[in-house]
Amino acid sequence: MNAPAQLTHADSLTVRRLNIDLKQGFPRHWNGEDAFMTAFFNALSMSFPVGEQFFIDSVRSGEKQLGQTSEDERLRANIKKFIGQEATHRFLHGQYNDHLSVQGLHNTWADRALQQREKLYRKTKNSSQPHLHELALTAAYEHITSVLGNDVMVSMHQPHDLLLHAHPKMQTLWRWHAAEEMEHRDIAFDLYQHLGGNYQRRVFWYFFALLRFTTDALRQTVRNLWDDKTLHHPRTWWSVLRFVFGRQGCIRRFTRPLLAYCQRDFHPKQHGDDALYTQWLQDNQAVWQALG
Ligand SMILES: [Fe+2]
Ligand SMILES: [Fe+2]
Repeated sequence: MNAPAQLTHADSLTVRRLNIDLKQGFPRHWNGEDAFMTAFFNALSMSFPVGEQFFIDSVRSGEKQLGQTSEDERLRANIKKFIGQEATHRFLHGQYNDHLSVQGLHNTWADRALQQREKLYRKTKNSSQPHLHELALTAAYEHITSVLGNDVMVSMHQPHDLLLHAHPKMQTLWRWHAAEEMEHRDIAFDLYQHLGGNYQRRVFWYFFALLRFTTDALRQTVRNLWDDKTLHHPRTWWSVLRFVFGRQGCIRRFTRPLLAYCQRDFHPKQHGDDALYTQWLQDNQAVWQALG
């Protein structure tokens, strides 16, 4: 029996267990038999365990700076749920990535992300507010993931849906993750603002994150295609062109919401359609259970 849905806003974030079994594996080209679209999503998955641990550590170090006001308490409660959601994502994507290793793929993004994290800690350790650098970077990545998450919801079942023909289990995993990224998209941002983070630092780390994300996603996707021996297939490159430059390609779909982050009065809740992800969670209550 599923717990009743608590879905509508960040003050009622829900930590969920997803009822899918990734240990049994999934087809090699699980995303509609499309080697590129599979390699791209696999690349994202490879970055999550390290990335999401960094997000968890960042909000934890921010949480230590909170006081006792009602706003501090509200943030503290949301941070706890945020950590619960990201820890669940990290766990499931760890299982997902184990199966990618069995399929013969090599994760190079995780090692690079670990090195980047150590470099960031070294560079900011003498700063008076190292937690603000980490939080700005986390808020930046949370915006990027929520833009992708919103797109997965907005385009659902339309011809340009990135998961239109995906294996049902993988479609469930990615839509659930997208829904929760939408649901908690303001947590790191609100914490950063509340602790006095300024606009310049926020935008600096955002462009840093965008550059790193684009470069690392590209490198890992190419590596996945290489390992899959589909890098040189014409069908792969047709899919790349359609994904990047097509009428409903990522340049058209993602440029505007990504750049919105640079507005001075930006707030994550101004962007994205909450009704879509809440509806998906409502319609798919059979695949998840609320925890705690
Ligand atoms: Fe996540
Ligand atoms: Fe997230």
